[in-house]
Amino acid sequence: MARPPASVIAALESALKLSPDDLGLRNHVAQMLADDERPQEALDTCAGTLSRDPVNLEALRLAAGLARRLGQPSAEGYERLLAALGGSPAPPAAADTAPASAPARPTLTAVPSSPPPAGGTPPTGAMLADGERPGLRLASDEGALVEEFDLQTPRITFANVGGMVDVKKKLELSVLGPLRNPELYQAFGKTATGGLLLYGPPGCGKTYLARALAGEMGARFASIGLEDVLNMYFGESEQRLHKIFDTARRLAPMVLFFDEIDALGHKRSELRGGAGRNLVNQLLSEMDGSQHDNTNVFILGATNHPWDIDSALRRPGRFDRTVLVLPPDEPARESIIGHHLAGCPHKDIDPAALAKSTALFSGADLAQLCNLARESAIESSAAAGAIRPVGPDDFKRALRSLRPSTVEWFGQARNFALFANESGVYDDLLDYMKRNKLG
Ligand SMILES: Nc1ncnc2c1ncn2[C@@H]1O[C@H](COP(=O)(O)OP(=O)(O)OP(=O)(O)O)[C@@H](O)[C@H]1O
Ligand SMILES: [Mg+2]
Repeated sequence: MARPPASVIAALESALKLSPDDLGLRNHVAQMLADDERPQEALDTCAGTLSRDPVNLEALRLAAGLARRLGQPSAEGYERLLAALGGSPAPPAAADTAPASAPARPTLTAVPSSPPPAGGTPPTGAMLADGERPGLRLASDEGALVEEFDLQTPRITFANVGGMVDVKKKLELSVLGPLRNPELYQAFGKTATGGLLLYGPPGCGKTYLARALAGEMGARFASIGLEDVLNMYFGESEQRLHKIFDTARRLAPMVLFFDEIDALGHKRSELRGGAGRNLVNQLLSEMDGSQHDNTNVFILGATNHPWDIDSALRRPGRFDRTVLVLPPDEPARESIIGHHLAGCPHKDIDPAALAKSTALFSGADLAQLCNLARESAIESSAAAGAIRPVGPDDFKRALRSLRPSTVEWFGQARNFALFANESGVYDDLLDYMKRNKLG
């Protein structure tokens, strides 16, 4: 890790003096001090965060690492609290994630993670949506270890998802409606079973939306990295998947989110000994309502390459409903930009105007845009020795160096969509591309 310039740290520290209750900034300063090999000052800064918000996961995680580094006994206390709150000692937890406390059975007990199992099996486990590592092991009421599992109870709901009115409507109809009013839907022969596939260009909110859906339902959420499951030794992948489903059934209501589900379909011939085929079969059997009671287990998949998905997975009763997640529309862009600006001093910024000039930007592109603008303001604050809020010029500069990353995806998607458009499954995508003169 390169040491941050002293001037930047000094500028941020002055900013913190002006806004001592800005916990995001406080954590940022603590991280910078840690990167600058000033662990004691970093730890003191974390202590300031924790005195304001004792369950701040990011500060706890940092403090645990720093106290460990300094050989202080408080490290153990921080770690215990972190584990009890469901945070992992790995990279920072998402701010929108509540600790995995229980809306349902069985009791969650945080236990220290054990060393990798004997035999050299890679410690896999599901990945969190934001790439975090699992930090919790679940124990049953009796205290017996039942499964290593990733869990979140997202705090975000549809209200946090800007725009995307059509997508929300579709999810309301196909998932939330049947849940809220099961009798009505049963009368029309509709249930919330089977899987739902979110697809679209990268960075446009598939994972975010899946978590918001879980938040909306008050359900737990686990993101399963199929690449991880696939990389296991022969025969273990199926067992692992079975355990995941088994645990989910016990912990329902639960959203199981399979990210990059195309990993199961494409380049299958390259996968060791038909491992992909076996795993597809296992997944199909787990999803099969006649073999298992999957009541209140909601299965979502996400992909940027729906055309690569094994056709067996797309048949009725499986991932038979698709939802196209497009680049955020103007209201969504405005809300995303507003969200990113919330934690930093800014002046004369008009998020609505910025939203107008960022057509086709993904959510991730917009985050990058705001980051660049913030960095530009930090740089010039450091040079001037005084805080200068982010202003329109910072955004102008940032905009000049960025292009929407979704355009390339649309360019590639066009042929696949045209070629594989049986039963009109990609009609909405082709229609969007036509309207926006893409591909
Ligand atoms: N409509 C939205 N409202 C608010 N934030 C959004 C919205 N869409 C995207 N975002 C933001 O954009 C970020 C990127 O979205 P996300 O990671 O969900 O994309 P993705 O489609 O899953 O990407 P990938 O295909 O690369 O996995 C999210 O962390 C979220 O902050
Ligand atoms: Mg994603």
